[in-house]
Amino acid sequence: MNFDSVAREDLPEILCRMPKAELHIHIEGSLEPELIFALAARNRVQLPYQTIQELRAAYAFTDLQSFLDIYYAGASVLQKEEDFYDLAWAYLQRAKAENIVHAEIFFDPQTHTARGIPFETVINGLDRAIRCGREELGLSASLLLCFLRHLSEDDAFAVLEEALPFRDKFIGVGLDSSERGNPPEKFAGVFARCREMGLRLVAHAGEEGSAEYIRSALDVLKVERIDHGVHCLDDPQLVARLVQQRIPLTVCPLSNVKLCVFPSLPAHNIGTLLAGGIAATLNSDDPAYFGGYLNRNYTATFEALPELGAKEAYQLARNSFQASFVEESIKDGWIRELDEFFEEQTHIR
Ligand code: HPA
Ligand code: ZN
Repeated sequence: MNFDSVAREDLPEILCRMPKAELHIHIEGSLEPELIFALAARNRVQLPYQTIQELRAAYAFTDLQSFLDIYYAGASVLQKEEDFYDLAWAYLQRAKAENIVHAEIFFDPQTHTARGIPFETVINGLDRAIRCGREELGLSASLLLCFLRHLSEDDAFAVLEEALPFRDKFIGVGLDSSERGNPPEKFAGVFARCREMGLRLVAHAGEEGSAEYIRSALDVLKVERIDHGVHCLDDPQLVARLVQQRIPLTVCPLSNVKLCVFPSLPAHNIGTLLAGGIAATLNSDDPAYFGGYLNRNYTATFEALPELGAKEAYQLARNSFQASFVEESIKDGWIRELDEFFEEQTHIR
């Protein structure tokens, strides 16, 4: 493919139209202010904000924790199975419109069970939306259950126990919430148990935490993908390992800027990660809070970084399929579609 034949001004449309997967999206982070107010009214929840504008004005984050405080508060309007369905259905429709053909979606059950919402209410609502997405939108999606790392490993074991009757409704587990001071090794036992159960394993590491957390996520938790992982560049030996073992990173540029992991998009290291041969992917993380869904992450990042062109667009989309947890034959089908899309873009001129 002659990627150089693509004009820079044509990139935004190509980025939006190309088929892609999203592998790092927290469903609670797709809860838009409008839906927060609608669900608050439906469930008679009193919000500490009078208007949508007032709520949005509170989305000025200084670090991960300042975001998490608001994110967990926002999730309190989710109470009934229908609410979880509406939340996931809104994301899936959005994903369809953005030419996402496959999504692996995080959910945080402990955020809800701690408020007395039964696990089954959460997972049944999300699962029903995913099944509708498959039938009505032709979109492939699956769930990853995230353990909250600021809570204990015993808590993680407890939620895993509650999840067992619903084992067929999620494909794997992740680790999220406050990273610093909560290293991967805190969850060694529960990840080992999940591994025995045949669950797929991922973990947030190297977002605010150091490269050492990426190492222990790989060595101790034995995860297959690293969520964020942008601090790997501090450790050249680790970078060599990520490249050699083809360990994917799910990078979220708008999130990184909103949470002050990087001062600006032009300062982001995604170009360096790709040039170094790392299997990086682009993702939205918490799109309702960070200023954009997946296509906005692509277009804003490519606009900010001149080293990113059509070749990198193709590479990122290809990586997203390759890094997904679906059968190889399905990945191959999506990559063929991607190739056809790019053949067309690069032959026209
Ligand atoms: N990091 C950690 N926990 C999270 C995030 C994140 O970016 N988003 C939602 N929970
Ligand atoms: Zn995340």
